[in-house]
Amino acid sequence: MRLSLDFKYSQKFIDEKTLVRLKNEAIEASKSLQAKTGKGNDFLGWMDLPSRMKAQTERIQSLANSIRLNSEVLIVIGIGGSYLGAKSGIHFLKHHFYNELSAEKRDGPAIFFAGTNMSPQYLKDLIDLIGDRSFSLNVISKSGTTTEPAIAFRFLKSELEKRYGKDLKDRIFLTTDPDRGALTGMAKNEGYEKLVIDPSVGGRFSVLSPVGLLPLAVAGVDINALLSGAEAAMKDVDNTYDENPMLQYAVVRNHLYQSGFKIEMMINYEPRLHFLAEWWKQLYGESEGKEHKGIFPASASYTTDLHSLGQYVQDGERHLFQTLLHVEESAAGMVIQGTADDLDKLNYLEGKTLDYVNKKAEEATLQAHYDGGVPNIIVKMEKADTYNLGYLFYFFEYACGVSAYMLDVNPFDQPGVETYKSNMFKLLGKPNV
Ligand code: PA5
Repeated sequence: MRLSLDFKYSQKFIDEKTLVRLKNEAIEASKSLQAKTGKGNDFLGWMDLPSRMKAQTERIQSLANSIRLNSEVLIVIGIGGSYLGAKSGIHFLKHHFYNELSAEKRDGPAIFFAGTNMSPQYLKDLIDLIGDRSFSLNVISKSGTTTEPAIAFRFLKSELEKRYGKDLKDRIFLTTDPDRGALTGMAKNEGYEKLVIDPSVGGRFSVLSPVGLLPLAVAGVDINALLSGAEAAMKDVDNTYDENPMLQYAVVRNHLYQSGFKIEMMINYEPRLHFLAEWWKQLYGESEGKEHKGIFPASASYTTDLHSLGQYVQDGERHLFQTLLHVEESAAGMVIQGTADDLDKLNYLEGKTLDYVNKKAEEATLQAHYDGGVPNIIVKMEKADTYNLGYLFYFFEYACGVSAYMLDVNPFDQPGVETYKSNMFKLLGKPNV
């Protein structure tokens, strides 16, 4: 087990009888995931993805190497599950200022994301930012029909054509469905390299497929180590409850939900974890928010947000609980030095590391929020490395499947997303809607 859960700061909100009932429900939900008898059982391809993908890493790595060689910039085009995994992985594993580093220090192309919105200014600024640097595109869309990435691709492809002409086979890499969608047609017509998303893997469960793996490999991430971490979690799903963090997480969050805590805030004290919470929000929001049910997933990055949301969390309406991602090891020493005049009155911290101060802020906040009526689940990991990230991705995916089954909703569809789209298409005059 690569991570552990600590419920010390949620104990007083846990009632033994409810816990036992929910444990049994979670065990049943897990069995039905594994037997493929539950709702949405044609979308369970993510469950053995970590082992299956190992056969594809050589090709993914070789495409990544060619992008690393011919491009100073990679633009990843995709939205929702087609970008959040890669983005969160790069933030989690790479330098905080990866894109701003000089090319030598960065050791890989700068990586930017497009197709995540429809802002014209964003796209103009992105094109401006690329400037005269060489660049390639990884267009990711499972359906191949999503409007935001399709529009971004049109603009960025025309930028590529201006520089490199019509033959863009070594500049455009598509990640999409094996047979369907506009990108599949383009791959055939234009001869672009195409990586396939297994039709039984939904977008928000696709980070461990080529969707996440190609951009991560371009950033220099060891994708085999990532898959090994995920594989370890995959094996842990068979553990008994006490050795099974996925079941424990699903049970306690459902217990808190049933006790009136309708909002779960994913909390971190390390900015590198910020985008993992964005990925998690999509995973849980789109999987559970159905039939007028579901925990609302929110997030905050501390200590930054203690200076904005902290007041509400401490004293506002008692309808939220927090899930803290705690990283034990800190990378840099950063020891606080004493000064002769002590004008900033910080000499009392002389000799302490910045991590020590950060961890004390975490401890103090946990206690304060707990005392104020906010339950906290702590997800503890030794260090924020590639292997543990793989574990974490799978951990959250599996727990999400179990948790949604406990709510009796289908975790793998997203019917609610269609309503705004069909309104928008009518307003835009799209034919045949
Ligand atoms: O989880 C999902 O299925 C969605 O959020 C999709 O990832 C998102 O809508 C993008 O879809 P596509 O990859 O088909 O462009």
